[in-house]
Amino acid sequence: MTFTVAIDGPAAAGKGTISKAVAAHFGFAHLDTGLLYRAVGAKMLGGADPVSAARTLDPADLDADGLRTPEVAQAASQVATNQAVRDALVAFQRSFATRPGGAVLDGRDIGTVICPTAHVKLFVTASPGCRAKRRFDELSDKGMDVTYETVLADVKARDERDRTRAAAPLVPAEDAVLIDTSDLSIDAAVAAAVAVIEDAR
Ligand code: DC
Repeated sequence: MTFTVAIDGPAAAGKGTISKAVAAHFGFAHLDTGLLYRAVGAKMLGGADPVSAARTLDPADLDADGLRTPEVAQAASQVATNQAVRDALVAFQRSFATRPGGAVLDGRDIGTVICPTAHVKLFVTASPGCRAKRRFDELSDKGMDVTYETVLADVKARDERDRTRAAAPLVPAEDAVLIDTSDLSIDAAVAAAVAVIEDAR
């Protein structure tokens, strides 16, 4: 059986945490599609042409070190505005989405462009301040030298670029269920997502 869960939303809203937990709960495979753009962004920072990098991307590239840095996040958001880059990444994502046993994909355009017929679509969001605080804590815990102010500015710049780009902008699908995690614990946010999926099965 195939069962696709599309989880979209802005940076650091909790998509990754919810996606992993939901995948573990239902035994689905999980693809963090941001990693595809991060891998292409990292290659661009290394001097590669982003379109060629996207066309020749290897699944092993998603395990590269250093994809979680703020610099790579910004580069990812930049290459993600390029339609040819996006086109090159569609087939891999769609084939992942239809693997037997179920799949959860999280990103920005999963419910709108990649999997418009997904069985469940969630749009996970939170206030910019909340998201910046979470991302700041996460980066600080990893020992990165960042300030809350720069992380907030990064999150806002990325939101703006992701929302206003012409190619597959970040926007909730019409039939997406909204989950605002600003005032939710991780357990409560995961429980909300699990409940929506249970209902649809
Ligand atoms: O989810 P993330 O923060 O790792 O994503 C990094 C960037 O990649 C994000 O700012 C925009 C882009 N992206 C995208 O355009 N479409 C996706 N499906 C996933 C990520």
